[in-house]
This record gives sequence, C-alpha cells and structure tokens, in this order.
Amino acid sequence: MSIRHLIVPEDLTAAEIEAVFAISRDLQEKFAAGRRDALLPGRVLALVFEKQSLRTRVSFQAAMTHLGGASLFLGADTGFASSRESIADFGRVLSEYVDAIVCRTKAHATIERLAEVSSVPVINGLSDEAHPCQAMADIYTLRQEVGRVNGLTMAFVGDGNNVARSLAVVCGLLGMRFVLAAPQRYQFDAAFRRHLAKILPAAAIDETTDPVAAVKDAAVVYTDVWTSMGQESERQERLAAFAPYQVNAALMAHCPSALFMHCLPARRGEEVTDEVIDGDRSVVVTQAANRMHVQKGLIAWLLGHA
Ligand code: CP
Ligand code: NVA
Repeated sequence: MSIRHLIVPEDLTAAEIEAVFAISRDLQEKFAAGRRDALLPGRVLALVFEKQSLRTRVSFQAAMTHLGGASLFLGADTGFASSRESIADFGRVLSEYVDAIVCRTKAHATIERLAEVSSVPVINGLSDEAHPCQAMADIYTLRQEVGRVNGLTMAFVGDGNNVARSLAVVCGLLGMRFVLAAPQRYQFDAAFRRHLAKILPAAAIDETTDPVAAVKDAAVVYTDVWTSMGQESERQERLAAFAPYQVNAALMAHCPSALFMHCLPARRGEEVTDEVIDGDRSVVVTQAANRMHVQKGLIAWLLGHA
C-alpha cells in the first residue's frame, strides 16, 4: 500500500472517510464495552507541534496507547521549522524512527513540505488553513446525534478559518449543505472558493453576511473563536467586526431544533454565550470525545491495519 497523508480533508474521498468512520465506530463500541484491541502493537506515532493543544495532542496520544502502540510528543525543543535544520532533514530522519506523524503548524506550507519529504503518513493536526481531523470527528458526531448527515445543513457563524474550511469540504463530500455567515472580509478567500468549485462542483456551499438567514433550516450551528492562534494582534478589530455574529439564545431561537457545535477551546462571552455552549443542544464535549475515536480509525486505516 502506498503512503497516504491527511493534510486537507479532500485528501480522502467520501468512500474513504466512510471507511475510516466504520473502523472508528467499531473501535468506539469495543472501547465502550471495556475492550482496547491492540491493533498497532509496537507502532510509534510522533506529534510535532508548533502551537498549543489539549484535544488534538491528548486524543492522539491516548488513541495510540489504547491501540497498543506508543506516541512521542515533540514540542519546540526539537527545533522543527526553525533555523536548527531543514524540514526535509527533520522529516526524513523522523520517518526512520516512527510509523506516522501528526503535525500542528503555523504556516500550511510547512506541513505540506513535511508530507513531501516524509516516508510515513503525515496527519494535519491543524494548520492555518485546515483542521481535517476536527471536521471528520464533527461530522461523525453529527451522524451519531441525528442518525444521518446527507441532506442536512450546517450553519457556521463566525470566521472563515481553518476549521470552517475543513468543515465545508467534509460537508460537501458527504452530501451536506454548508453555509458560512461572516462579515465579508472574513469569508472564504477567492482562491479557496475556486478550489471548492473545482473539487466539489456539485456541493452546496454558500456564504452570507446574515447570521439569521444562515441558521434557518440548519440542523447544526457551529462556531469557533474569532481570533485564532497566531492572529492575536488582530484581536481588537476582529472583536468589533464579529460582534453581530455571536451565537446566543436569540440566534438559536431561529432554529429551535438545531444542535450547537464548537471545536473548542471557546472564548465564552465572545463567539458563544455560556447559555448556548452549556445548553441542552450543545454537543461540544461529545465532539471532543469523538476526536479520539475517529483518529483511532484514521491511524488504523492509514497504517493499513484496520
Ligand atoms: N479542537 C482542537 O483542536 O483543540 P486543541 O487545540 O486543544 O487541540
Ligand atoms: N481556529 C482555531 C482552532 C483551534 C482548535 C485556531 O486555529 O486557533
């Protein structure tokens, strides 16, 4: 089997995402029954992170332990993407020691370069442009909650960021409608829109500046922070621009049966109120829990050990 990477969600086809989900479901059911099948004994996963993380880091490390393998967390002291050594030397050498690499980068080009030079699968654990593991776990969660995803609408109210982009792609692949409600300048850029039109010509991916119009008919309302990691200097202008886009009880009243999702971490009182994120319709903790189950399926699939 040739090496496969997951840098952006469209690196997988819809059928491949379903194959990953099938393994994830099986492993999740066994886990719930107290079984931790050692599918990957002796396998090693490296986690190379340029930014902070709770969920991505711990869910991958716990997943590897449950599967009978091991994981190594590599933070700033390994000198990744610094003047210490080239990404090519780093990736080629690391590939000699481990079976797969999860990487969280600032620039998207950094993880693309790492994948180019690595001889083991590279999984994007978030870059400035994509968060494919998050989007896959979220759609897996939605299907568990609603029973299906095909034909449903996700309204993403907030920044057209890494998480929004990956959700748009996974929704498009799996037959969902995706609508982004954001101020014009924070909607998807022209290059990404052209890319979407090319890879998903039939997908229903819309954008609007009107959050109320976006959430009408939505099965799920999603939001994420207005200021992502690395954008801290833009915080004040973003707070002002996104103020009309807060997901609060008044907005959720326009879609009384919609669920609420957030990838976390959340800035409570900014993009979402306590009332919504802690309310009956919020599935944020389930989303976070499913990161681990879906990533187990993903690692097993990528390593051909399903
Ligand atoms: N949602 C998510 O990726 O969380 P972390 O930044 O804590 O990994
Ligand atoms: N958009 C956020 C997601 C964090 C999981 C960020 O990039 O900081």
